[in-house]
Amino acid sequence: MSNPALLDVILARSTGKGSRIHGPTHWAGVAAAGLTLLDSTPEADPLVVLLFAMFHDSMRQSDGHDPEHGKRGAELARQMRDASEFDLDDARLETLGRACEFHDKGQTSTDPTIGACWDADRLNLWRVGRRPDPALLATPVARRVASNVASKAYGALAFDWRALFAEYGAKRDPRSVYLRFGDLPEGGRSAIFLGFQECGVSVYPGSEQADGSYALDLHRLVLGIDTRFLASVLRQARPLYLVEGRQVGIGGMGEPVLEDARIVWEVPADLVDVLPDRPRFRALVEAWRAMRKGEHHDPYVWLGAKEPDERRVFPLVANGQIAGFWDTVESQKREMLKGWGLLEDYDKVQAGDRARRERAKPAHNPYALESFNNTSWKESSWN
Ligand SMILES: [Fe+2]
Ligand SMILES: [Fe+2]
Repeated sequence: MSNPALLDVILARSTGKGSRIHGPTHWAGVAAAGLTLLDSTPEADPLVVLLFAMFHDSMRQSDGHDPEHGKRGAELARQMRDASEFDLDDARLETLGRACEFHDKGQTSTDPTIGACWDADRLNLWRVGRRPDPALLATPVARRVASNVASKAYGALAFDWRALFAEYGAKRDPRSVYLRFGDLPEGGRSAIFLGFQECGVSVYPGSEQADGSYALDLHRLVLGIDTRFLASVLRQARPLYLVEGRQVGIGGMGEPVLEDARIVWEVPADLVDVLPDRPRFRALVEAWRAMRKGEHHDPYVWLGAKEPDERRVFPLVANGQIAGFWDTVESQKREMLKGWGLLEDYDKVQAGDRARRERAKPAHNPYALESFNNTSWKESSWN
């Protein structure tokens, strides 16, 4: 059974799926946090971590005191495996069962897989207003991530299950790589805007194809694909690099964020591809390629990139704190920014953007080349 089908069956049997705190949104947050631990914990088993995310709270009966819920989750996993509803050998099932059964017992584990499962769950404690206790985090990377407070995002965002499944599938795939447009940022942290920073270097998930080309795997961005953002990055015509590093977070666009990132080599423009294989994406990459070669490119391609966004919501991280979210209700966002003392800066930037948009407003033809080139699009701050 495929992972999406398995998730459907778990949901059908789950007694806790209706919970806002312990339901499927939380399971996805645990899966997302798990992704950020796996590069630094190569001994941990990605499949067990993913299954743990789906099963561990599936059988909660309430959000309150429910000491047997882990045991019931483990039992559901055993029943379903024994009914051949998914494939898992006995040793891994045993690990999954122990991880589920004891996940809420305040323990730590020296088993790297169980440690990663429990750390991924505990990194989601922010959603109930609790800071993860470093003494209960088994992996050094989880302790670093927790201290960065960007981990607040795991409990706050709506992750895309399809993308999570694809990312887990890619974790042990030797063809899976990280790709990045442009040089590494100074200090090893990508800027978002207003001085907000990620906890490392933002990269795209990618894969090495059988023919030796490299594809940007957009369907693995765990917050969904933002086509307009892709266009704004490609328009800057930066070189594309193959990058190595360890994932320590998920960025505001759902992209992997790496620490100790280093450039391996510049991928020749002719070897750059994009997935999923949609005409829009292909056209954008072709325009980027032409610009890299110093050739003329058609500006209408960039305009054509305005297809509906699939993204949900992006966190704004300021000095290691979540300062707010894009795509939330404006009044809520303003409250959050006010709380962080950033409202004035935000308003200034907004006023500047509005003024630039006003100036760039075309008189007659909305697609006129000169008005398009005046927009602030090409100055995307995603470094
Ligand atoms: Fe739990
Ligand atoms: Fe949980």
